[in-house]
Amino acid sequence: MIDKEQYKDALERAKEHFEKLILEQLERIERMKQDTEWIDYKSLKPIIIGVVGGDGIGPFITKEARRVVEYLLADEIKNGKIEIRDIEGLTIERRAQVMKAVPDDVLEEVKKCHVLLKGPTKTPKKGEPWPNIESANVALRRYLDLFANVRPVKVPKEGIDWVFFRENTEGAYILGSKGINVTEDLAMDFKVITTQGAERIIRLAFDYARKNNRRKVTVVTKANVVKTTDGKFLEIAERIASEYPEIEWDDWFIDIMTAKLIDPARRKDFDVFVMPNLYGDILTDEAAQIQGGVGTAGSANIGKKYAMFEAIHGSADKMVQEGRAKYADPTSIIKAAAMMLEHIGFPEKAKKLDMALDICTQFEKKIVVTGRPDGATTEEMANYIIETLQDPNLEEKWQKYYDEYLKS
Ligand code: IPM
Ligand code: MG
Repeated sequence: MIDKEQYKDALERAKEHFEKLILEQLERIERMKQDTEWIDYKSLKPIIIGVVGGDGIGPFITKEARRVVEYLLADEIKNGKIEIRDIEGLTIERRAQVMKAVPDDVLEEVKKCHVLLKGPTKTPKKGEPWPNIESANVALRRYLDLFANVRPVKVPKEGIDWVFFRENTEGAYILGSKGINVTEDLAMDFKVITTQGAERIIRLAFDYARKNNRRKVTVVTKANVVKTTDGKFLEIAERIASEYPEIEWDDWFIDIMTAKLIDPARRKDFDVFVMPNLYGDILTDEAAQIQGGVGTAGSANIGKKYAMFEAIHGSADKMVQEGRAKYADPTSIIKAAAMMLEHIGFPEKAKKLDMALDICTQFEKKIVVTGRPDGATTEEMANYIIETLQDPNLEEKWQKYYDEYLKS
């Protein structure tokens, strides 16, 4: 039998800790209830794009992505519809110095922008020389309430055309840095699902399916084991699905889902996915690998007021230490830039950029980035993409390559 008296202090501390977390979450729910309006980029002038370099190779690749965006939005920059701003200071050195995931002055600048194009930021883990501060990504997603992490994955030849809607603010992440060591032997973390948080991401996935004539939405949880939170997510999905009778839906558990993604006979049957945070983190890496690696994928973090577009790979500090930063591959962040263009109301420009990326990195490949001096530099790659964009026959060129690729 446990002597409760012996753990009196520990229990008291744990209760206080838990109470504080609950109150924070209840407050967040109230904020979500009030945040119903989506920002309208059409009526904004200027739309302010903040460019955040980040750590490691981040500043090198974002600089080139910025150049590509400047080229595509040259007219809009001239006529004042678009403003591009550099945001300094989201570096691991600054973050460690002030012991914050995002320094206050940086957050203030970030909040003056409407959308961010962001390079990778270092997420320190236990054992590294940096203090164990929270991931800047995770913190920004929470501060800006970027509740939807949208990650498309395509392998046309195999009929794969997936779009992942990963819940991006709650689940295992929201209190991921707020667990408690109750005693020396007992560590506990917390997972959170709210009605409002689940509803908004599930609705976004179904709305996307409806608007884009998608056939099916697949809901992924582990509701057979994690019954309260995942159970709630699944229950809400069932309710929302009934509002979209023309869209088929099904639900899978995360373990078998990861298996089905590598089953060539079944995987093309999937279409749109929606799931809580951690499952989405894992499944989207797997999916990106099927497409050709995490470096080939772009990632959009969407909220009602702000949005952030980022490279999905890490900051590759080793490349910088070894003097190879100028050979870093800018593909992922440029893909993110294409998603940004689409999101803020320039779908035609986004489509052109996607085509140029296909031509430069998959079809024509006049130069190739290898990450080493035997390959092209980041700057040469961006130049190549801009030259390809300048081609008046870009679309025909892409179509020809694409038809060949489908036949091959
Ligand atoms: C991602 C990344 C982040 C996450 C890390 C860097 C904290 O893996 O964007 O998927 O876990 O969300
Ligand atoms: Mg991840």
